[in-house]
Amino acid sequence: MNVLVTGANGFLGRHICEALRSQGHVPLAFVRRAASAQQLQKAGIDCRVGAFDDALSLQTSLKDISAIVHSAGGGKASRPASFFENNVTPTEQLLQAASQSDMKRFILISSLAAAGPSPDGTPKLNTSPLTPISPYGESKVQAEELVQQAKTRFHMGIVRPPAIYGPEDTRLLPLFRAAYKRWAPIPGGLRKTLSLIHVKDCAAAIVRTLEADYPNGTAFFVDDGAPHPVTELIELMGLAYQHRVITLGIPGWLFKPLALAGYGLSKTLGRESIITPSKIKELLCPHWVCESTQTQAILNWQPQIPLDRGIAQTCEWYQQEGWL
Ligand SMILES: NC(=O)c1ccc[n+]([C@@H]2O[C@H](COP(=O)([O-])OP(=O)(O)OC[C@H]3O[C@@H](n4cnc5c(N)ncnc54)[C@H](OP(=O)(O)O)[C@@H]3O)[C@@H](O)[C@H]2O)c1
Repeated sequence: MNVLVTGANGFLGRHICEALRSQGHVPLAFVRRAASAQQLQKAGIDCRVGAFDDALSLQTSLKDISAIVHSAGGGKASRPASFFENNVTPTEQLLQAASQSDMKRFILISSLAAAGPSPDGTPKLNTSPLTPISPYGESKVQAEELVQQAKTRFHMGIVRPPAIYGPEDTRLLPLFRAAYKRWAPIPGGLRKTLSLIHVKDCAAAIVRTLEADYPNGTAFFVDDGAPHPVTELIELMGLAYQHRVITLGIPGWLFKPLALAGYGLSKTLGRESIITPSKIKELLCPHWVCESTQTQAILNWQPQIPLDRGIAQTCEWYQQEGWL
């Protein structure tokens, strides 16, 4: 199957392209910068450089394409409006262009942020109501709504990953670095739980959403099998680095004013900060958890990389590449 992958130069997008190739599909990367295309081309991936607001570049790229994996977007932004500009507007523009093509299946990469945190630690299910608490989560809900509205035209699937980790990830890197330096501050305290997935497992699940049969518009949570206490994650990092890591819970009443002061200072100095008030709210939630039993059954997919192996391999990669 010829598959257009947006956000193909991103952390997840690169793995989606690799996973597609390994399953005999042909990825075509849609990127906005020539430099991104050059890197992907070195890895043997065919690329188109274009912009979501350029309908012609999208329509040209969609020629002979059977499916789209829309991974462009994300949660890194300093202004609330940017989340909507990056996650909603491109989805709308892409769906519009796709309606002029022969494309049959569209997979949106959403996020656990669309469903929101769990108040009591009960994992979110594929069918749980969507209760986002941040502009990022709200932008993903709006993108999901656009996908549901387009069900009459295409077969749609939605994948909602929790935190994705693995070599080259920059989002969880600060925690890996802190553990390397032997102490890990945890905003909100040590009873926190979270779902995680290794990037290779996430990409493999996404490929299955292109191949499997399921009701049009189904949303899929993916994870590595069970939620993890944050303390387990830090212990595994300590095991990988072969030293003891002191884990320090920072209560919300202390973390919030400090983080807000840091955010205020960045603004005063005219610097971009991704630790925004909404990110602080997300960081202080005790449980970001989902479960993928239903997903595994429907997609005939199982995560292959348990947390201990994935963390050990990621720590080793960061060390070897000098990222710590
Ligand atoms: N990483 C996670 O833990 C995680 C968890 C849940 C869901 N997700 C979702 O997974 C997807 C991929 O995330 P990632 O971790 O691969 O992020 P990433 O490494 O930051 O990559 C994001 C990609 O999206 C592109 N992009 C962002 N805004 C764009 C825009 N307005 N127009 C065109 N391209 C745009 C970027 O292009 P440039 O390189 O040109 O900026 C890049 O290719 C996102 O939709 C994200 O919300 C990620």
